[in-house]
This record gives sequence, C-alpha cells and structure tokens, in this order.
Amino acid sequence: MKIIGIAASARKNKSTRFVLEQCLKEARRTAEGAGLSITVELVELAGLNVNGCLACDACKKGVLCSQQDDYQPLIAKLADPDVVGIILATPVYMGSMSSQAKAFLDRTVIFRRNGFMFRNKLGGAIAVGGSRNGGQELTIQAVHAAMMIHDMIIVGDGDHFGGIAWGNHPDGYQGDMVGIATARNLGCRMAEVARMMRAG
Ligand SMILES: Cc1cc2nc3c(=O)[nH]c(=O)nc-3n(C[C@H](O)[C@H](O)[C@H](O)COP(=O)(O)O)c2cc1C
Repeated sequence: MKIIGIAASARKNKSTRFVLEQCLKEARRTAEGAGLSITVELVELAGLNVNGCLACDACKKGVLCSQQDDYQPLIAKLADPDVVGIILATPVYMGSMSSQAKAFLDRTVIFRRNGFMFRNKLGGAIAVGGSRNGGQELTIQAVHAAMMIHDMIIVGDGDHFGGIAWGNHPDGYQGDMVGIATARNLGCRMAEVARMMRAG
C-alpha cells in the first residue's frame, strides 16, 4: 500500500512541504506500529509545469492527457492500484487553494472519466496559511469537494478537518506545534483507516 502526498505550494521546500512531511512520517510510523506495510511518496509541484485542464476531452478516450507537461509522469504514479490514499497539502492563497493545487486536482478528472479510479481511495487535506486564521478550513473544504467528486473516502485528523498550519508562526513554521500535531494526526488517521480497509 502506498500513500502519495502532493505538496502544492509555488515554493519548493517551504512550509507546505514541511507540514506534509510530518504527516507522511506519522502515517508510516503508525502503519509500522500496526504491522502494516505502507510506503509514502511526496511529490512537490513547485518547479514542475502542471498547466490547468484544457477541457479537450482527450481523457474521455482513455487514461491519457493531451498536454505534454509535467503532469504526464504523475498519471502512472496516481493510477497505480497500490495507492491507497492521497494527501493534498496546499498553501492558502486568497482564501483558497493554490493555483498549483487546483490545476493538479482539475487534471485528475482523467481518473474520474475512466471508471472512477480514485473511488474508495482515502483523501486527506492540509492547508498552510500565512495567518493563523487565513482561510485554512475553507481551503480544506475546497480540496475535500474535489475528492468527493472522485468518490474518495475523506479522512480528517480525528478531531477536525485535517492538517491546519500557520506558516508565519512566531517560532517559524517548524515551531507551530499545534499545526504540526494536526498534520501528524491526519497521517495517523490515514494509516488507521487504511488498516481497517485492508482488514475488510
Ligand atoms: C498569492 C498569495 C496569497 C496568499 N493568501 C493568503 C491567504 O488568503 N490567507 C493566508 O493565511 N495566507 C495567505 N498567503 C500566505 C501563504 O499561505 C503562506 O505564506 C504559506 O505558508 C505559504 O506556503 P509555502 O511556505 O509552502 O510557500 C498567501 C500567499 C500568497 C503568495
């Protein structure tokens, strides 16, 4: 089983990636503790060229996309049946997800149009805002909406909606222990639910 984390910031190796890493580490740790083999993979969209969907409808003819950009290698990665869950981490931009996150999610329409390939996969979301209350919950809701369009199973942090972090925390984003805990709890829940699903 595999969990893929998508870091959808415009910036490489910043707060969004850091918080996602905490989440994925916890997912792996929880799985190991439960004797479950889960691999995790983090994909950072920053530096990649993933355009918005052109609505050309090429994907109505199969699991393919007409755009020859950096989304191409992600198609096989996401189509892998071993993938049990996807965690999308995005910075809050203007009260919602980044354009990188939206482009990524729009392009996943390929999988919906080819037999709902994400159906029953686990979906989790992380939002990192510059302000403590800068729209993280709204952002997560928007990501969850896309996941529901795929008929994914939405997983929260066991208490609220998912990972909610504060990039400009006075102690730096690495010092936002409350936010980091929500991301870790999301990872833990992803692994727990994956284990339950495996047990049937
Ligand atoms: C275009 C843009 C819009 C932003 N809008 C918001 C916002 O609405 N609310 C908020 O809390 N932070 C906002 N921010 C701040 C980012 O969410 C914050 O700096 C975040 O930690 C960036 O993630 P990164 O460190 O992974 O790049 C905005 C940043 C940018 C560049």
